[in-house]
Amino acid sequence: MTSSAPAAEPRPAVRTEREGAVAVILIDNPPVNAGSLAVREGLLAALTAAASDPSVAAVVIMGDGRSFISGSDLKEFDLPLAEPQLPAVIRAVEDCPKTVVAALHGAALGGGFELALGCDARIATTATVVALPEATLGMIPGAGGTQRLPRMVGTTLAIDLVCSGRRVEAEEALRYGMIDQVAKGNLRAAATALALTLAGRKSLVIERAVPDDGADEEVAAAAALKAGRNRPHIAAAIRHVRAARSVPAARALADERADFQRLRVSPEAKAIRHLFFAEREAARGGGLNKVPPRPLARFGVVGAGTMGAGIALAALQTDLSVVLVERDPAALQRGLTTIKAQIARRVETGRLTEADVNAMSVRLTAGLDLGALADCDLIAEAVVEDLAVKTAVFRTLDGLARPGAVLASNTSYLNLDAIAAATGRPQDVIGLHFFSPAHVMRLLEVVRGKDSAEDALATGLALANRLGKQPVVAGNRFGFIGNRLYAAYRLHCEFMLEEGTLPQDVDKALEAFGFAMGPFAVADLSGLDIAWRMRLQQASTRDPAARYVTIPDRLCEMGRLGRKTGAGYYRYKDGPARGAPDPEVEAIILAASADAGRTRHSFTAEEIVRRALLALANEAAVVLADGAAMNADDIDVVLVNGYGFPRWAGGPVHWARNEDPGQLISDCDSLVTLAGPGTRRGDLSLLLRPPSGRGHVRARG
Ligand code: NAI
Repeated sequence: MTSSAPAAEPRPAVRTEREGAVAVILIDNPPVNAGSLAVREGLLAALTAAASDPSVAAVVIMGDGRSFISGSDLKEFDLPLAEPQLPAVIRAVEDCPKTVVAALHGAALGGGFELALGCDARIATTATVVALPEATLGMIPGAGGTQRLPRMVGTTLAIDLVCSGRRVEAEEALRYGMIDQVAKGNLRAAATALALTLAGRKSLVIERAVPDDGADEEVAAAAALKAGRNRPHIAAAIRHVRAARSVPAARALADERADFQRLRVSPEAKAIRHLFFAEREAARGGGLNKVPPRPLARFGVVGAGTMGAGIALAALQTDLSVVLVERDPAALQRGLTTIKAQIARRVETGRLTEADVNAMSVRLTAGLDLGALADCDLIAEAVVEDLAVKTAVFRTLDGLARPGAVLASNTSYLNLDAIAAATGRPQDVIGLHFFSPAHVMRLLEVVRGKDSAEDALATGLALANRLGKQPVVAGNRFGFIGNRLYAAYRLHCEFMLEEGTLPQDVDKALEAFGFAMGPFAVADLSGLDIAWRMRLQQASTRDPAARYVTIPDRLCEMGRLGRKTGAGYYRYKDGPARGAPDPEVEAIILAASADAGRTRHSFTAEEIVRRALLALANEAAVVLADGAAMNADDIDVVLVNGYGFPRWAGGPVHWARNEDPGQLISDCDSLVTLAGPGTRRGDLSLLLRPPSGRGHVRARG
């Protein structure tokens, strides 16, 4: 005889339990209690029931599981939002004749915190964080956040919090008045007690007056606009917070909602959402995040130059023990001085305490003997970009590192497999390509060599996570992902110089598009000699038919190596900090055009930007076909987190996907024709195809 158990009832997203006269409404939507449609419906039904139940004296709303409502379901945001929407739920809280207390634990973010702001009181655990992070997603709060928050903390602080999306911990939130109490013991018990104490009283935030912060508000608005790069949603957020002072609440709430609905489907919000999902996927490394990483407590760094010092500093800011080894005593001193100066700056700005500094100095060992790395779990090499030097270092490390230690190279262009071959344990060798400054830049390319073990790569991902960095797994191809794309972008910008523009035109157009700095300002900052040296090395193997722009070589030959020599594409001596256009450079460019037999023509800013984006999109397709990137979306993650591509434009792949495909393909054909022989034409359909699963990065062939 067979029997089948009755199908389990689906667990409701919201349920009500009783604590005497208090109705405790519990939100149960794992894993993070996102404010989905089922949650909104459940809350509305529970509030309606509590409102009409004479045995209920007061109500507590809290999250079951790890947190209160820690945000919305971003996947809903591309579609029309289903009813009931959040403002209706908050209105039901405010209209409820019973006192409603929000009990917050874990994270109360976005719509979750807006719901809490609609309650009569807020109580939190000491570990709770609250925030309105909508602006970081290209939107504004849309359920009263811009109206209720200034009524609690004033417009000055509200502008800062709404525009930055900053997370605020419970004690700080209490100080600001964003919450009313921090529970010492059990949150549910404390919230129930508070609800009973307040029972019968409504204390609606929306009815409070907003004080006039005067000049402080102006200053906060200007700072927020600047930090938010003048984006339209930041300006909108500021406008709404300021309206809280003068516009009647009902109208201001309706205005905010209308703007939220418009902004959530704006191209900028869609681009940022694309990156949100792309970054999450990239951090999974095609499933590597499921592989248990090797233990990691002791972190070694070889080389205390620009990168080594930055990498050591980044690691010191976690709980890792750091062993930094140099060859040159003077370089070690310079590296340590840089680290100390950076730490001192963090103390000055309040980001670190003296106690943190003491703990860091205990965790840092520095010296000149590679033997000190013997018990490190992961050793990151950051010595000069020279294969002979790097293989010598790896050979030594192979002789002394403990079995199972991960050996990582920060090489930018060298073949990781050749480095790994210097060891008897190529399975333990991976690339960890940090970006400069290494303690600031979020991107970390985790490079897979042909023998790299899965758990060694997983350790790279885990390290990125601990350092607060965004990992992207890259194949062992020349320049990996980012430097390959950037080289193509810069090359096409140089082509434009030869065809008719000037550095300042190109930089201005691309900065107006949203790049943090134009390519020629970047080149001057990092120094023109690095690329020059590489071109000289490659001179004998270069395709003589390939188009070659001589402008950068001419600058270098004149000693114009960038900022460090006072001149590069711009002139720095006596000029503005960012460099002044220089007639001498214009003369060099005109001569180069003439020598190349080109008739110069003018470019509009739009043409400059399109050419640069096409160059990136074409190279993205090439990189993808080569197996340097696993997935087209990863390329966007790299460009935005490592190369100053504006987040709100989503990355070159997202840009290409939103272009007319026919036009894109014909423009790419023209781009490749202009670039001349030797330039590869990417198969753009690789980018345009909607992402379907993930490919694999390939070994160097
Ligand atoms: P750097 O020249 O500032 O520092 C290299 C340091 O390594 C020097 O202090 C040198 O004394 C030391 N060194 C050389 N041989 C050594 C050995 N056998 N043992 C211990 N120390 C040794 O160079 P940088 O810029 O820090 O570059 C290091 C690596 O990082 C290179 O592979 C480079 O391609 C890569 N990289 C550099 C970036 C940058 O923007 N500078 C960005 C990303 C990667």
